[in-house]
Amino acid sequence: MIKKCLFPAAGYGTRFLPATKAIPKEMLPILTKPLLQYGVEEAISAKIDTMAIVTGRGKRAIEDHFDRSYELEHQIKDTSKENLMNDIRNIVDNCTFSYTRQARMLGLGHAILTGKTLIGDAPFAVILADDLCVGEKKSVLQQMVEVYERYPDHCIVAVEEIPKEQSHKYGIVAGEILEDDILKVTDMVEKPEPKDAPSNLAIIGRYILTPDIFDVLQKTKPGKGGEIQITDALLSMAKEGRVLAYKFSGKRFDCGSVDGFVEATNYFYEKDRG
Ligand code: UTP
Repeated sequence: MIKKCLFPAAGYGTRFLPATKAIPKEMLPILTKPLLQYGVEEAISAKIDTMAIVTGRGKRAIEDHFDRSYELEHQIKDTSKENLMNDIRNIVDNCTFSYTRQARMLGLGHAILTGKTLIGDAPFAVILADDLCVGEKKSVLQQMVEVYERYPDHCIVAVEEIPKEQSHKYGIVAGEILEDDILKVTDMVEKPEPKDAPSNLAIIGRYILTPDIFDVLQKTKPGKGGEIQITDALLSMAKEGRVLAYKFSGKRFDCGSVDGFVEATNYFYEKDRG
């Protein structure tokens, strides 16, 4: 039912300067694999094969990564390094990639609206590649697609419990319990101060959105930080009872921050060697 995944990847990644001066944040590797490739693999695990990427200036490395590289492949053919390219070659051969550019970085909501031209009129997934997720049995997006199949016509946000003093970094939701791990969202606030946070449930970088979100985003005024916020757009849909929050099983690393990036690197290194 969900065929496309949108990857907003136009942000400046200022927390990683100077590394992100010429390299997109989404191309920074955890071990040998860029963050965005982890995201694409997660989408594939949810049976999605059409990737729509919102890029910006200085992000051409993303397009080159998800393409064949005949010279390089020729160079390593019949050597011990040949298999290092297997995963990315399979991705390129089995998925389609399309791109559009966000000319002005006006926020995540605006980036998603920019992706409308690639998505069209069907429900779609959104992955923020700097939130690197590892599912317990199934990937986080796979879990969310299964929730969507049970609650079609709803938008779904993945949430996790955070220490309340960190609420100023996230969109925070409150809602009524529908199932053990699913809430019907009644309120959501972008980056509140801890005293104003309606709960300790923070939205992380995984969404399933219905296409009417684009009309709502079109009307959404700039919010926190002067940016067009997806949280503000979703709040108006939540008021119609159409947004669910899903407490996923698995781990999330905030690879948009240096601490989270190092934590993810250590985790994957241990897993790789262990
Ligand atoms: P972040 O809040 O992590 O912003 O965006 P950022 O600009 O990438 O990083 P810092 O804070 O300057 O270090 C969350 C996601 O939304 C995308 C980013 O690429 C990232 O995947 N985004 C954000 C856009 O595509 N466009 C925007 O205008 C803003």
